[in-house]
Order: sequence, then structure tokens, then C-alpha cells
Amino acid sequence: MTLHSIQIGNVTIPNNILLAPLAGYTSYPLRRLCKEYGAGLCYTEMVSAKGLKYGSENTQALLYTDEKEGVCAAQIFGSEPEIMRAACEHEKLAPFPIVDINMGCPVPKIYKNGEGSALLEDPLLAERLVKACVKSGKIITVKFRIGICADKLVTAEFAKRMAGAGAAAITVHGRTKDKIYAGEVNFSEIEKAKNAVDIPVIANGGVFSNADAEALIARTGADGVMVARAALFDPQIFCDLTGTPRESKLTMFEKQLEWTMQVCDERFTTVFMRKMAAFYSKGERGAAAFKEKMFRASSIGEVLALARETWR
Ligand SMILES: Cc1cc2nc3c(=O)[nH]c(=O)nc-3n(C[C@H](O)[C@H](O)[C@H](O)COP(=O)(O)O)c2cc1C
Repeated sequence: MTLHSIQIGNVTIPNNILLAPLAGYTSYPLRRLCKEYGAGLCYTEMVSAKGLKYGSENTQALLYTDEKEGVCAAQIFGSEPEIMRAACEHEKLAPFPIVDINMGCPVPKIYKNGEGSALLEDPLLAERLVKACVKSGKIITVKFRIGICADKLVTAEFAKRMAGAGAAAITVHGRTKDKIYAGEVNFSEIEKAKNAVDIPVIANGGVFSNADAEALIARTGADGVMVARAALFDPQIFCDLTGTPRESKLTMFEKQLEWTMQVCDERFTTVFMRKMAAFYSKGERGAAAFKEKMFRASSIGEVLALARETWR
């Protein structure tokens, strides 16, 4: 991979390999790991703008960050311009200089509310959302899909609108909403977005190796790549993509567990780290038996002991 910095508003991102927002996963511990392993910028999972306004969202853990993590972007979702602007101005988002707006989420509850990928069908509202958020003084970026389905592709036009409304960068997930996370990534649509705007364009979809990242850049001309599911199975994919030295799986697991305890209670940490252990064991010999034992572990101590027994 040829690495280079990216300018997003007045923030210089040290390299062009980014960690995607992943609901349920990209809280502080995973973001900090990926940052250590070389990611240029990491995103929080999507946070409801309304939830922030009414204090109903469990934002304590979702939006925890500190100086050890470095610059990080927060992602919000919603469909009401003034509520989105208020979310950008909320004190909980104060540590995040970049706020990304989710315009790609395919989950039915979100889509039916006119949020996430539904905004692809209402470009005027999408534009108003960006304009309102820009007024907050935050650097606003947008992550969107190439369309709702194959015969309704909107990429270049939507990219232009977002840039025109004041977005400082866009991320294009090269799949349609109806494909969810499956299927081929449409390189040529991402390329059309890149050719349509002068702001940085990040390409997203299907990066599981160095070769995938190189192909995505080569075939789209994008300024950078965003890695999502691959980081769940192996956060050290960022080492491979950025030339950062790898460390042992156990060391990685112990760090993530320690940082999760820093932010979450014992119960959550146990359940979350069991889930991560299952991801990290994929492809190993004896993974099925390991996962079975792991899911019976009922304390942080047991989770840790099992990880040490297996990965030492
Ligand atoms: C479990 C999971 C949670 C996700 N949560 C978010 C989210 O909060 N915000 C978002 O914009 N995309 C979310 N996505 C989509 C990813 O950021 C990414 O666009 C998608 O997985 C395609 O990239 P990949 O092929 O590298 O996985 C999520 C995907 C998965 C699998």
C-alpha cells in the first residue's frame, strides 16, 4: 500500500487507512487498538442524534475517548437538521473534531425512520442535514452507499451534493442498500464519486488484505480505504496495511480487555470479550471447542485464563 496523509478540513490524518464505524464494536478499546496498529483515523459507531438530545442513548461507553487514542471521528445518524446540528454541538461530541453523518445504514428500523440509507432517496434533505451540521463549526463528513438498489445508483450526483453542502470528505461504501454487506463492491461507482468532487474520497467495502486495499485504490482512484469487518476478525490487519509490526494475539487481547474494563462494567466486559475471542479464533485449530468454552466463561478472570491457556 502506498500511504499518504489526508487533509480533512483542518485536520491532517497521518495516513489513508481508516477504521469504519461498526455498531457494537468500535468503542474506545477496539479503536485504540486499531490506532496503535496503524489506522490513520477511527470512527465511533453510529450514535442517534435524538438519543443525544434526549439523553436516552447510552453514550457514556459509546463516546468515551481520551488523548491516548488521538484524533477520532464520531458518527451520528438522524433526519432532522436542527437535531443533527444540536448533536454536533453537544458536549459529548466536544472531543471529536470530525463528525460523520450516516447515510448508508440499511437496518429496517433506521431506514423506515427516514434515516441512514433512506437519505439516498431524499438528497435535498441530505443536503440540508449537512448544511445544518456544518453550522456547528465541526468538520462534517458523510458515509453513504452507492444507491438503494442496482437500478437506482446515485453515487456521483449524491457525492456532488454532499460536497456542495460543505462536507469535508466522503466515504463511499460500494454496495447498494439491498445488498446489505454481501456481494461485489462496485469499483466504477466509487470512481465516479472520486471524479465528481474535489474533497477526499474514501473507498469502503471488501478490504480483507493488502491486495484488496491496493485493488480498491487502483480501481477507484480513491484517496484512502476504510476497513470494516476484517478488523473484527483481526485488528492487526492495520499492521499489514501500514507496515506496523504485529504483536501476539494474547497481548492484543489483554490490552483490549484492560481498556474495556476501563470503560465498561464487569458483566459487559465479560460478554464483549467473549465475543471478540470468538472472532479472533476464526480459522484456528480447535476454534469450535474454544468458543464453546469461552461462551461458558462467567467472569473476566475466566475469559482471561482461557485466552492465556489457548494463545500463550
Ligand atoms: C456489525 C456491523 C456494524 C456496522 N455498523 C455501522 C455503523 O454504525 N455505521 C456505519 O456507517 N456503517 C456500519 N457498518 C457498515 C461498515 O462500516 C462498512 O460500511 C461495511 O461493513 C462494508 O465494509 P467491509 O466490506 O469492509 O465490511 C456496520 C457493519 C457491520 C458488519
